Amino acid sequence: MQSEKTTAVANSNIAIIKYWGKRDARLNLPQNSSISFTMDAQLSTLTTVEFSAKLKHDELLLNNARASSNETGRVSMFLDLIRAQARIKQKAKVVSGNSFPKGAGLASSASGFAALAAAASKAAGLKLDDRELSALARRGSGSASRSIFGGAVEWQAGTRRDGKDSVAIERSPSFKWDHLRNVVAIISSQEKKVSSRAGMEETVRTSKLFRQRLKDVEKRLDTVRKAIAEGDFEAMAETIMQDSNSMHAVMLDTWPPIRYMNDVSWAIVEEVLAFNADKGKAVAAYTFDAGPNAHVYTTEKYAKEIEARLVSIPGVQKTMVCQIGEGIRYRTEHLF
Ligand code: PMV
Repeated sequence: MQSEKTTAVANSNIAIIKYWGKRDARLNLPQNSSISFTMDAQLSTLTTVEFSAKLKHDELLLNNARASSNETGRVSMFLDLIRAQARIKQKAKVVSGNSFPKGAGLASSASGFAALAAAASKAAGLKLDDRELSALARRGSGSASRSIFGGAVEWQAGTRRDGKDSVAIERSPSFKWDHLRNVVAIISSQEKKVSSRAGMEETVRTSKLFRQRLKDVEKRLDTVRKAIAEGDFEAMAETIMQDSNSMHAVMLDTWPPIRYMNDVSWAIVEEVLAFNADKGKAVAAYTFDAGPNAHVYTTEKYAKEIEARLVSIPGVQKTMVCQIGEGIRYRTEHLF
């Protein structure tokens, strides 16, 4: 096999119905389906991969620096899946860069593993369709399965034990959501204390409330699917906030408890609720991942007003406004 140097770009995604809890840790199979919007290229990862017989080990450069042995090990294990599928033994050089500042506390595993799955599988000579690419990206990081697609995306939990049906689908293309914004409020750039992998495992093992969450999520998924089909953001705004609350509640119900949101995050929750009360309807929806930073979805009409309100909250370091973006793309210019 002749390896071809390949470069791919993937954008991050921010879930509105959250994934928290696996039913299979090795295959990264989730307990529930989740839904997200893919962000624009302000939150993206660009990755070049080349397999070569000259290399003795996989080499990984992240944001212009040699990656830690932990990071390289995780990428090597992921590349092993591709090598097995492509029946090759060659090691790879991987150069990857995020568009957003390192240490901004913004998740990079979704865009990172989506870009890596696309670039590495193509470089290894595999011709995967988007569904297969989504299943592959999922093995690197669950949320990466959603970043293969643009617009509104559902990662369907699936029921098969081999995980073949646990893949993402595009629910609605990005152009239908060109009025939607995610006002990101960066509070902390610290690495999270508990990784999502470890946190989820503890939740599934110890939280009783988690069983209730799984039931409630099904109803919320229906509400959100319907609102997406109708292109109606306001119809799902409250459900988005409730699902974020539910995920953070089961985190607190975990033993030992896990807390990602801090007092500044809660000040943002209150500000968004006050904003909606002022407008007399839910025009903005907060959601928080495994960290204190806020993502406030709203429409173009209210984005500037919301941003100004968030900036004025003590502890908010920076804001950025993202639009809804595309799925995976390939580039002919490479990083090395
Ligand atoms: O990116 P992962 O696979 O470690 O999972 C993170 C899950 C959340 O970001 C907390 C929620 C989600 O659905 O993205």
